[in-house]
Amino acid sequence: MKSNYEALPGKPNSLWLATTPTTSFPALQNDLLVDVAIIGGGIVGLTAAALLKEQGKSVAVLEAGRIAEGVSGNTTAKVTSLHTLIYDYLIQHFGHDKAQAYAAANQSAIEQIATLVRDKHIDCEFKRIAAYTYAESEKEVNKVEAEVAAALKLGLPAVLTYETPLPFPIKAAIRFDDQAQFHPRKYLLALARNIHGVGSYIFENTRVTDFSDDDPCFVTTEHGTIKAHAVIVASHFPLNDMAFYSLRLKPHRSYVLAARLAEPVPEGMFITTDSSHTMRYHSGDSGIFLLVGGEGHRVGEGGDTVARYQRIEEWARERFAVESIVYRWATQDNQTLDKLPYVGHYSPTSEHVYVATGFGGWGMTNGTAAAILLRDLILGRENPWAEVYDPNRVNLISLPEFVKHSAKVTKHFVGDRLSVAGSVALGEGKIVETKSGDVALYKAEDGSITALSPACTHMGCFVQWNPAEKSWDCPCHGSRFAADGIVIHGPATKRLEQIET
Ligand code: FES
Repeated sequence: MKSNYEALPGKPNSLWLATTPTTSFPALQNDLLVDVAIIGGGIVGLTAAALLKEQGKSVAVLEAGRIAEGVSGNTTAKVTSLHTLIYDYLIQHFGHDKAQAYAAANQSAIEQIATLVRDKHIDCEFKRIAAYTYAESEKEVNKVEAEVAAALKLGLPAVLTYETPLPFPIKAAIRFDDQAQFHPRKYLLALARNIHGVGSYIFENTRVTDFSDDDPCFVTTEHGTIKAHAVIVASHFPLNDMAFYSLRLKPHRSYVLAARLAEPVPEGMFITTDSSHTMRYHSGDSGIFLLVGGEGHRVGEGGDTVARYQRIEEWARERFAVESIVYRWATQDNQTLDKLPYVGHYSPTSEHVYVATGFGGWGMTNGTAAAILLRDLILGRENPWAEVYDPNRVNLISLPEFVKHSAKVTKHFVGDRLSVAGSVALGEGKIVETKSGDVALYKAEDGSITALSPACTHMGCFVQWNPAEKSWDCPCHGSRFAADGIVIHGPATKRLEQIET
């Protein structure tokens, strides 16, 4: 039995990773003292480092792999405060003031990115462009209208329109003008070059294994220890779960194709009202592309992920004159239970440790807003967004979701151990039952077998095979492992255990 992996369109790499060089910052070698240690070299970590260094703080960014290669290297990089349909929901559930704080944070993030691009002369294909959320069917029009009304109440640049640059009709859309897009890796690598040096550092291939909340805090890595007066945990899924993030975050995966069209690519950033498909114009050194994404699912529950890519291609070909698919890749997001990110003190008792996570697919602006907010908290400044992003908010709205999510995680802990699998095809992985217990088997194209324990090294849920990305994905909190068991994405920090065959 042969997998249809070979039939997938495009090269398996993000447009951003394919068109920028690999970084080569050193690994931590010695113990060190800095003002702020930052765990994670994505948009939050690097922006916070840049902003704190501007204020005279010494920083050390600690990245387990290479910077801007994880979630921030695989985003669709929309720099917008138009987050599908969020403002009507926020006003109804949190009231006008909190909704306005969220709107202001995300609008400020756009301007913060524009300022950094301008002041640091960053060549990252930054472009002002409009963002749209559109309804494809008549029954969705009232949602668009409600969102326009909510956004206007908050002072956002919203317009109700019935036309977009898309080459197919829509029923109604909300448009935000003067939003932006960029090449996220060109932006982040330029920030990184400005951060490293003069008493501040970026360390790659330096996995953090533990941290403390003292003064100074101790941040332990595989190569040495950093002492710091403050720690930011910006590792996408928070490391060392001392505040039940495992029960408060839902890891989510979706897929993107970069297509060349045989017609002009519509200029703008677009998303459908149910978020099932997203599109974005991109023009840069590598040419003009339409990015098309969708087919989202909870991590580890994607089933036939190869078919997901194929369905996006089909969807795109029905609507655009697609000439070729050049790249394909997947993105990963964490959704919170009430749709608001967690940014602030790591736990109710944390004094020197801060966290930023749960951007719900809008990491470019929420991540930048998080960096601004954390800079202010560390510097002891007031910030009007602190309350709405507070990770320790007690929120009755999220309780039903909490119960549902906890039940789902528990189901994975128990239920996955009962599944039975058959033979394994070349190039595929499968959980198989053996006399000595379940084994995660991967059979390479040359027939060689890798046998691993299917128990995720984070908290023991069983991983699932992801055929399109040839990885073992954990449905509980989103950890991902390569076919040979090496960690690709946390919160797990240790590889899957190898089993002798
Ligand atoms: Fe938590 Fe796997 S990611 S158990």
